[in-house]
Amino acid sequence: MKKIIIDTDPGIDDALALGFALYHPNLEVMGLTTIFGNVSAGLATENALRLCELTGQSVSVAQGADSPLHIAPNQVADFVHGKNGFGNIELPVPKLTASTLSAAELIVSVVEQHPGEVTIVAVGPLTNIALALQLSPAIAGKVAEVVIMGGAFHCDGNVTAYAEANIWNDPHAAQMVFNADWPIVAHGLDVTLQINFTANYLDGLASNSPKVGGFLRDAAQFYIEFYERERKIDGCCPHDLLALAYVTNPEWFTLESGAIAVATDGKTLGNTTINTSVKTNKQIATSVMPEELLENYAAVLKLAS
Ligand code: RIB
Ligand code: CA
Repeated sequence: MKKIIIDTDPGIDDALALGFALYHPNLEVMGLTTIFGNVSAGLATENALRLCELTGQSVSVAQGADSPLHIAPNQVADFVHGKNGFGNIELPVPKLTASTLSAAELIVSVVEQHPGEVTIVAVGPLTNIALALQLSPAIAGKVAEVVIMGGAFHCDGNVTAYAEANIWNDPHAAQMVFNADWPIVAHGLDVTLQINFTANYLDGLASNSPKVGGFLRDAAQFYIEFYERERKIDGCCPHDLLALAYVTNPEWFTLESGAIAVATDGKTLGNTTINTSVKTNKQIATSVMPEELLENYAAVLKLAS
C-alpha cells in the first residue's frame, strides 16, 4: 500500500479523483487537506467530509488556506463546478467534523510519523504545500514524492492563454513548491486533456455502483455542459485523477525531466515552463495510456458497489 495525503478543492474532478483514491486497494489515504480554488476552503472541507460519508471511509480532513500567499484571491470556479462544487447535486450536511489541525500541520505531522513513505498528491492551488514547507522545511527530505495536478507546459492554459487554474490561483506557492529539493511529478494540461470521460462512460460507472458512481455521474453533468460550451467536446476531463493514477500506475505515463519555472507577475502570470537541459528531480507527464486508465478507473469504482 502506498501512503498518500491528498490536498484538494472539491470540485467535480476532485470528487472523481477521490472516489478512485478512497477505494483503490493499493492506496492508504492518510489525510485529506483542503484548499480554496474551485470553492472556498470552508466548502472544500465540507465537501471532503461529504465524500468521506458517501464512501463510508474514515479519513482525517484538515482545512487549509482560503487565499493565496501574495496575490488577491481569484473568483471561485462556480461556473465550472456549480455553486456547491458538485454540479449543484446535493449531498447531506456532513456529520463528520474536520481535524483541529490546519492542513499544513496535518501534512507535517503525517510526514514526520512516516518518514520516506508518504506521497503528497496536490490537486488544487499549492498554498497548503508551501505553508507546510514553511512550517517544517525538513519535510522536503522526508516525503517520498510530490505528485501535482497543475501547469500547462507545452500547451495553452485554461484560465488565461498562459496559465492553468491551480498554478494561476497561487503562482508564488507553486514557485516555492517547485523550487524545494524534493522529487516532483507534475501532471499539467499537456496530459490531463488526453483523458475524456464521456456521458456514456459515466453512465457505466453509475450502473456499476449506483450510490457513488451515480453521484459522480450526476455531479459531472454540470461539468460536461461546461466542456461542451467551452471546448466543444462530448464529455469532460478528469484532470485531478491523472495525479492519483500516476501514483498507482506510473507505467502508463511518459515523463520529461528538467527545471520548472513559474511566472509570478506580468501578463504570463502562472505560466509554467520546463528547461529539459537541466538535470533535476522534477518531472512532468507528457502522455498517458487512455484505455488502461479508463478501464482501471471503472474497475476501482466498481468496488464501491
Ligand atoms: O486546471 C484543472 C484544475 O483546476 C483541477 O485541479 C480542477 O479541479 C481545477 O481546480
Ligand atoms: Ca482540483
